[in-house]
Amino acid sequence: MTISEIDTVKSSALGEIAAAATPDAVEALRVKYSGRNGLLPAMMKGLRDVPPAEKPAFGQALNALRAEVAAALDARKAAVAGAGEKREDFDFSLPGNWRGTGSIHPISEVIEETTRIFAQLGFTVADGPDVETEFNNFDALNTAKHHPSRDERDTFWLGPELLLRTQTSPVQIRAMLAKKPPVRIINPGRCYRRDTTDATHAANFHQIEGLYVDVNPVSLADLKSTLSHFAREMMGPSVKVRFRPHFFPFTEPSVEVDLSCHVCKGRGCPVCKQSGWIEILGAGIVDTRVFRRVGYDEDCYGYAFGMGVERIAMIKHGVTDLRMLYANDLRYLRAFL
Ligand code: PHE
Repeated sequence: MTISEIDTVKSSALGEIAAAATPDAVEALRVKYSGRNGLLPAMMKGLRDVPPAEKPAFGQALNALRAEVAAALDARKAAVAGAGEKREDFDFSLPGNWRGTGSIHPISEVIEETTRIFAQLGFTVADGPDVETEFNNFDALNTAKHHPSRDERDTFWLGPELLLRTQTSPVQIRAMLAKKPPVRIINPGRCYRRDTTDATHAANFHQIEGLYVDVNPVSLADLKSTLSHFAREMMGPSVKVRFRPHFFPFTEPSVEVDLSCHVCKGRGCPVCKQSGWIEILGAGIVDTRVFRRVGYDEDCYGYAFGMGVERIAMIKHGVTDLRMLYANDLRYLRAFL
């Protein structure tokens, strides 16, 4: 026996152990090297024939080898535990754990459905920030300096000329400042007003605004047909649409649009306060003053409309208290699955 022989045994043993891929293979190597009739005990016996002067050195080398091989076997055994086992006891046809898929919130649903309907008519989705300038939210929209909606009791002011937008109409302004006509956008978003929360009001609500501006004539008839198409797509073909004269600072003429009540079909009931109609949006022909403020040619034509998302969700689902839409009550939201 020589020291180099010991080194050779060491490198082949460690190499074989590292290559063992299953617990059975590791066990076979344990028998081969460390087992009672294994190679290492045989080498220990060979120590007898070593000259006395060299015995300590050989003894030390052999002990080190034994310890190293034992440690390598243990480590490998842990590493390959479970490998190569047959898993016949596992039934792959068992059903998995069902985690539930959830459903779309009625507010998101109205936004998605509305943008889908208008996208089919060539409108693209536009976006704007919740924090707006006084210019975009009021001045450019031709809202008089003394208009009550500017009051701090109605609007959340963040600074002298900064506020939480009270409507999605400032996105009209942003769109027109960014691009020359034609502009055809639909923009959903959050709005904020200092309203006391009750069954039909919230300080934080959603609107969807639409704007179409062109250098070719765009008329009230176009607005009427577009909104009637939208109402039928949203509420079903039998819905009736009514246009009433109204006032908005940024449109002239302006209209409010009512839909025939979905509950009583126009006969009169508590939901429509016996009128047979439910108001859902404001609209009109864009005022020339607005075109002037955004640097557009005064000969442009356009219409704009804005609707309350919560209002439409309530009508669609027969919800009588707007607060339920925000209550985070799963039992309630599951009703819309
Ligand atoms: N922004 C208006 C509102 O909040 C609605 C509207 C939009 C009216 C566009 C006309 C044109 O009441």
